[in-house]
Amino acid sequence: MFDSGFGGLTVARATIDLLPNEDLVYLGDTARYPYGAKPLEEVRAYAIEIARYLVETFDVKYLVVACNTAAAAALGELQDLLPVPVMGVIEPGVRATMAATRSGRVAVIGTVGTIGSGAYDDAFGKIDPLVGLTACACPGFVEFVEKGDTEGPQVRILAERLLAPVVAADVDTLLLGCTHYPYLARTISQVMGHEVVLVSSADETAFALAAELDRLELKNPDRQHVGWQRFISSGDERAFAQLGSRLLGPELVDAQRWEPHGS
Ligand code: DGL
Repeated sequence: MFDSGFGGLTVARATIDLLPNEDLVYLGDTARYPYGAKPLEEVRAYAIEIARYLVETFDVKYLVVACNTAAAAALGELQDLLPVPVMGVIEPGVRATMAATRSGRVAVIGTVGTIGSGAYDDAFGKIDPLVGLTACACPGFVEFVEKGDTEGPQVRILAERLLAPVVAADVDTLLLGCTHYPYLARTISQVMGHEVVLVSSADETAFALAAELDRLELKNPDRQHVGWQRFISSGDERAFAQLGSRLLGPELVDAQRWEPHGS
């Protein structure tokens, strides 16, 4: 799986917990993050380069685009281009949000690229064209996570400002449409109020991946196998391992460096 940086580690965590017999390679494109403020064509080119590298180098059997912005920019192309099945994070989160809402008024927050792409409007519209959807970009959230500052006063002030339209929309369910945002869940929940259900596209994607591996008969049949994890960063590998282990947990001991051609 891959992401622009640390955000996809939320998907990795959920996947390691749910699929302990599977091996996992994770690439964080920290040298070129954030994706959310970049044109979608640029993100698409990065996504294709990374996906090819992962599939060719590690012979992966299933690729997860653990980044909403990259999924919004390139999921269809990756599914067409690659010889392995590919899953994004958008549809699983939308399904879980629609299952959770009682009022039919829901919201999604994400990067400027994701929200501007209309990918969530399309995905919600396919399930329920009448859903009351508030879609809101939250520029700046990702940068706080990449600094490791997930609960400080500055991120709280930013959250109060950016989430004001979502609070005003009186939704009962809020989809975290960026894989970095689960790290900000406590701050987001304090601003939204505890009665609003937060849905993490990271957890939902891990559930969907487990179901897909079952359906395609791709699950590792060796139930004794203890899955290994390998972490790769296009930026400083030591810095990646340091903050990454804080965010993911003890499985992230070290990381290796990858030089993208496009940088
Ligand atoms: N984690 C990515 C996502 O889910 C985006 C982060 C970024 O802007 O680089 O959209």
